[in-house]
Amino acid sequence: MDAATAKPVPRHIAITMDGNGRWAAARALPRPAGHRAGLKPVRMCVEECARRDVEALTLFAFSSENWGRPADEVGSLMGLFIEALEREIEELHGQGVRLRFIGERRNLSVRLQGRIAAAEELTRGNSGLKLQVAVSYGGRWDIIQAAQRLARECSSGALRPEEISEEVFGSSLALGGVPEAELLIRTGGEYRISNFLLWELAYAELYFTSRLWPDFSVGDLEEALGFFAGRERRFGQLSAQCPAAAKG
Ligand code: FPP
Repeated sequence: MDAATAKPVPRHIAITMDGNGRWAAARALPRPAGHRAGLKPVRMCVEECARRDVEALTLFAFSSENWGRPADEVGSLMGLFIEALEREIEELHGQGVRLRFIGERRNLSVRLQGRIAAAEELTRGNSGLKLQVAVSYGGRWDIIQAAQRLARECSSGALRPEEISEEVFGSSLALGGVPEAELLIRTGGEYRISNFLLWELAYAELYFTSRLWPDFSVGDLEEALGFFAGRERRFGQLSAQCPAAAKG
């Protein structure tokens, strides 16, 4: 519940931050300037989610497919992640945020891997907002790595195939232990999932806005939360079967 409005808030919000390149192009700036401008709404969302008692926030910062972008854009994004981590980590820690990165880390530079490991270690014990940043992440990659992990456990005898339930599979995914996403926000005017959280979005409400990510404001977030609060979440059941508490 949002203490200020008494409306239900999602336990977990996932955001696809799209539109940075177009934001930069509209200002005759290079694309990396759009990515840099995208840090402002990231800060805003972290603060607002913490303030509204949202339990988890997951940001799609760099997909498995983004490796195919021109090398200078990839390089400047990786540099931005390192810079943002170095600059913001103490503040996030002070806010009680538990920061984790999800994605194929082996593809990242040793320096970025080191910064990520240090940030995760520093904030591991924090009990505030669970903040996940998806970098070098793809939903299909995640499902495959979970399947491989479980297959290894089965072949070592630690697990029987019949024991693989939705819960067991879900906890083998990169977001294992984080409540399932209840609201997906995608900026930039595209109506696609684009290989984000394929398993976890099964019952999420989907909110699309044409707003470009660097322009995403508190008002835009409130609009998305209002959309969520107005949805009846039935999980495949009938309206009359759903307890009021499950409606959000
Ligand atoms: C998609 O817009 C955005 C990205 C690929 C990068 C998003 C990264 C940030 C906002 C930085 C966040 C940093 C941290 C540490 C969380 P696009 O480039 O595809 O935009 P376009 O569709 O207009 O070209």
